[in-house]
Amino acid sequence: MEKQTSFVLHGNIIYTPDKDNFISLKNGYMVVEDGKITAVAAEKPAAADRLPVKDCHGQLIMPGFADMHLHAPQYIQIGMGMDYKLLDWLDGYTFKEEPKFADPAYAREIYPLFVDELASCGTTSSTMFATIHQESTDILCDLLAQKGLRAYVGKVNMDTNSAPALTEDTASSLQATEEFISKWQNHPLVKPIITPRFVPSVTAEMMTGLGELAKKYQIPVQSHLSENPGEIQLVKELFPEDKYYMSVYERFGLFGQTPTLMAHCIHLSAEEIAIMAQTGVYAVHCPASNLNLSSGLMPMRKMLDAGVKVVLGSDIGAGHTLYMPHEIVRAIEVSKIRSIANPAETPLKLSEAFYLATKAGGEFFGQTGSFEQGWAADFLITDVPAYQQERTVDEQLQYFIYHGTAQDIREVYVNGLAVKK
Ligand code: GUN
Ligand code: FE
Repeated sequence: MEKQTSFVLHGNIIYTPDKDNFISLKNGYMVVEDGKITAVAAEKPAAADRLPVKDCHGQLIMPGFADMHLHAPQYIQIGMGMDYKLLDWLDGYTFKEEPKFADPAYAREIYPLFVDELASCGTTSSTMFATIHQESTDILCDLLAQKGLRAYVGKVNMDTNSAPALTEDTASSLQATEEFISKWQNHPLVKPIITPRFVPSVTAEMMTGLGELAKKYQIPVQSHLSENPGEIQLVKELFPEDKYYMSVYERFGLFGQTPTLMAHCIHLSAEEIAIMAQTGVYAVHCPASNLNLSSGLMPMRKMLDAGVKVVLGSDIGAGHTLYMPHEIVRAIEVSKIRSIANPAETPLKLSEAFYLATKAGGEFFGQTGSFEQGWAADFLITDVPAYQQERTVDEQLQYFIYHGTAQDIREVYVNGLAVKK
């Protein structure tokens, strides 16, 4: 009997093997064997004689999206406090919401809703913050694993400058983090990531311990960097001996010593951008969040030209949507706003923004986000309206990215297994 994860798809296929090019095939074929892509072909492949053929005629088949920065507990505070800037928004909303996850029953009520929406938006890979709470963070991981989604999840560390209900004892926080790592490090889909919230909420002692854990277990790191001028000033006051905000993370082994994701990276000097490129640290651009909290316009073109690895994130709840096509469009819009003031900064093309949201993010997890031989069969099937059927596949994708909704995403697969059907 054929395995459930071996089949041939027949439909309009599109993906970005590099940032400048779409590859598209109208009525093409994609062969999936044991959850991996073994061929993409214009003509009917021989495998179609021995494997079931799934007819997706008139539908688009594209890689699943990668959301590389989001806060799962903030799912229920989306849209709230958007008149504030970062530090007041954290104090006024977030630091009042996140303590609720001390109660595992609350996590069991809220996290399933979040995980369902993530899957239904076609986000097959994501990297997220939970809260400081160990039990609720395990619940989130269990739900993602049950759903069959690929994720890096961080138990957040905070031991200073926070609301009392979110201020941990340093040693217990490190111990809980190590337990969390041990529990999840060998899971095939859901993995741990070291997560100091940001420099202002962690002591030197906490960062020392987290750097040691990252090294000991070879675990990646995620945090926030240079999102808001008030935050940057606060970091200068807290760590006056460090040249840059990023120097603090670097000093403690939390900046590129293992794979590292830094959200925002808006207000960086040319020298800081060069350090990001040298260290290979990822900048996670979160355009909706950056506009909602009036944080700034990230210089995407400058970062890409300097050789920085850039990916996209929703950053909910500062961002207001889990639906990555909207972040793709917003990243393009932000780059266009920058280009109006600075013509040398050419705007992002759709192929570039799509690449950031699929292959660039996916590669953090391994081989996912593109349709290449041997890569994971992580893909979406979307409907194309009757009145767009005569268009090219590239145009159908353009229409979907700008005008589609999560309801147009019919099916979502990870490793060839359905997570939305
Ligand atoms: N910096 C520290 N914590 C947060 C958070 O929850 N959201 C955003 N956008 N920035 C942060
Ligand atoms: Fe964030």
